Amino acid sequence: MSIRVRATSPTDEQAREALRGKPAAEHRPSENVAKPEGELAFSISDLSLWYSGKQALTRVGLDIPRKKVTALIGPSGCGKSTLIRCLNRMNDLIPGVTIEGNVTYRNADIYGSDVDPVEVRRRIGMVFQKPNPFPKSIYENVAFGAKVNGFRGNLDDLVESSLKRAALWDEVRDDLKKSGLALSGGQQQRLCIARALANNPDVILMDEPCSALDPIATLKIEDLMRELTTDYTIVVVTHNMQQAARVSDYTAFMLTDEEITGQLIEYAPTETMFTQPADQRTEDYISGRFG
Ligand SMILES: Nc1ncnc2c1ncn2[C@@H]1O[C@H](COP(=O)(O)OP(=O)(O)O)[C@@H](O)[C@H]1O
Ligand SMILES: [Mg+2]
Repeated sequence: MSIRVRATSPTDEQAREALRGKPAAEHRPSENVAKPEGELAFSISDLSLWYSGKQALTRVGLDIPRKKVTALIGPSGCGKSTLIRCLNRMNDLIPGVTIEGNVTYRNADIYGSDVDPVEVRRRIGMVFQKPNPFPKSIYENVAFGAKVNGFRGNLDDLVESSLKRAALWDEVRDDLKKSGLALSGGQQQRLCIARALANNPDVILMDEPCSALDPIATLKIEDLMRELTTDYTIVVVTHNMQQAARVSDYTAFMLTDEEITGQLIEYAPTETMFTQPADQRTEDYISGRFG
């Protein structure tokens, strides 16, 4: 197995060595990790991450299938956001981060020295917890990335097709000049999804995309996630187990305990995870005993 070590500074490396306690080093990755069928989007192996020497992920390994929805679940602070941010190099933007292990996207090492992180983030887009439209018109929100990237096609068509794909077109077609901020929360989140789609990505990462939304807006986003799997790979962080059960094909359950931070406990087809969990801790979590 190849291990690549990246340290943002020698001090971080020393801090990490000092703080890297025995338990984490001896942690054996879970055996309850299913191999998804079909084509893979990501392959993650032996992935550990430290924030200024403080460990947040410990030897996480799993494969994420293409054109499916994969959900990351687990109690607050178990490393879900950290893991999803590793998939498009968003953690690179945080000072003091050290990453060890491998993340490949369609067999290419996304942390390779010849890889442009900006291109990684275009192909692997992201939608956040709180909808964050730019203070610009609906049209400009969707067209923004294309304009920055010197898109030469028809912008009107791109805006329309992206809004249609994000199931927002019918609600905004006559108001494209209106500010994105004037929309409801659910519409703003779909606008952010349209903005991501306009960059022609392959993958959309969603970090708790519904946690600021009401139940009806949430269901719309969930329906949209399912629809998008015809063309896109979706990875979604959620602390809502019903949501994971409703939308995802595969589910990864993560946990931080007294000894090991950010470990993968179990990964399985969603139905199996929710009906026959292999690990007692998964069962306790999904039956609401903690978290
Ligand atoms: N930017 C950061 N700098 C330092 N520590 C962080 C940062 N982001 C997350 N952490 C820490 O890493 C751990 C995992 O956090 P996170 O990935 O946000 O968990 P989750 O999304 O499951 O709630 C927590 O202990 C959190 O405090
Ligand atoms: Mg989080």
